[in-house]
Amino acid sequence: ARLAILLSGRGSNMVALVQAVQHGVLSGLAEVAVVFSNKPDAPGLETAAALGCLTASLSSQGRKRAEFDAEVVELLRQYQPDYVVLAGYMRILSPTFIRAFAGRILNIHPADTHQHQGLHAYEWAFENQLPETKITVHLVDEGLDTGPILAQHPVDLQGAGTLAEVEQRGLAVEHFLYADTLARLIRGELPRRTPETAGTAVVS
Ligand code: GRF
Repeated sequence: ARLAILLSGRGSNMVALVQAVQHGVLSGLAEVAVVFSNKPDAPGLETAAALGCLTASLSSQGRKRAEFDAEVVELLRQYQPDYVVLAGYMRILSPTFIRAFAGRILNIHPADTHQHQGLHAYEWAFENQLPETKITVHLVDEGLDTGPILAQHPVDLQGAGTLAEVEQRGLAVEHFLYADTLARLIRGELPRRTPETAGTAVVS
């Protein structure tokens, strides 16, 4: 499967994914078609290039969401991705973008998306002194962190005395969970989910 990885910053999840493709759980299953950023100066882009990935960027600064996203869709299509993998991509996607890759956009959120959405999830866990938080990999729909959950994994936060410690423990889980979930998705081991079914009550 061909992956387009989208980031806006540091890119530690991108690194974990690229390493999984190069010599880990994604090797033989996936290739990185492109690493894209809406911030041309994102540190993660340089890291991706150093790892041997093709990179591309378009600055989203001052751009209208729908217009910008239409350009990104056009750019990404040139790389024919099977999955669009958000890895610290700090943009809410427009409906046009979501429809262009319907059911094939993944995100990782550093909390249980049923309990916390949006930014600052580690701060939230730390300030509320949660004994445990959850990392969530989910399909992206038109809401903020509302799409169908593909996988969750707990992070033990007991004894984590600083925000840095919370983040360190969480990122260690993020880094294996994202690649592992993608591997299971590509192998067809996850139940088929579509964003449209998000939030729909199960009637039986
Ligand atoms: C991660 O905590 C991820 O869960 C969230 O944004 C952060 C990105 O970090 N969506 P990095 O750029 O992958 O290091």
